[in-house]
Amino acid sequence: MKPLIAANWKMNPVNQKEAKILFELVKKGVKSQKGVEVVICPPFSYLLLKGLVLGAQNCSQEEKGAYTGETSPLMLKDLGIDYVILGHSERRKYFEETDEEINKKIKRAISVGLKVIFCIGENLEQNQVGQKAQILKTQIEKGLDKVTKEEMKSISIAYEPVWAIGTGKNCSVDETMKSVIFIKQTINNLYNREVADKVRILYGGSVNSENSKSYIKEAGAGGLLVGGASLKAEEFVKIVKSAI
Ligand code: PGA
Repeated sequence: MKPLIAANWKMNPVNQKEAKILFELVKKGVKSQKGVEVVICPPFSYLLLKGLVLGAQNCSQEEKGAYTGETSPLMLKDLGIDYVILGHSERRKYFEETDEEINKKIKRAISVGLKVIFCIGENLEQNQVGQKAQILKTQIEKGLDKVTKEEMKSISIAYEPVWAIGTGKNCSVDETMKSVIFIKQTINNLYNREVADKVRILYGGSVNSENSKSYIKEAGAGGLLVGGASLKAEEFVKIVKSAI
């Protein structure tokens, strides 16, 4: 399976002009890269950009109705959006999203035909006191509760240690490799070997064009979720090329 390189623009840039410039530069730069799947996840207001596969950064757990401020996964699908990031640590932290809510969102998004980039990861304290495995296991088990083997075909799991996000302190190749193996093992225990082999495990957290290749080629990651570096077209294009 091709590596999946996803850009998480978060709440940037703040105007259409800059968003379009960034998007067009990336589009031009990755046009001929056939060995990799590139997905741009901009804020909702830029989801009408055309010419690259797009993902949203969140969606509602409901399909429609009286939920002021929410965006239905059906609306995303209708716009031609393919992916949605769910369970990002910033959503868990600032918007208090629980594993149960994330699970509902995942189920709903898949039911309307979206592909999901499901984020998991331990924070610094949990890492330091040796709770990483337990945290990842719980997030996976709860997030994927009642998700069937068939539905797992629509899911990629992004391992994003919270302490590595936006800090410049990217996770070592060795630790990432161990995490990828642990996540695959957990999926194997929940489903079977075939599902575990097929699910792409992405790495995210201070990825740049210097370290990107090692996650794909050495740590066994099936792709990358790129935040800050995805806002610089040249840098992001280099990251995409390094994955081939
Ligand atoms: P970062 O963000 O690349 O800026 O660390 C990654 C993410 O939050 O997905």
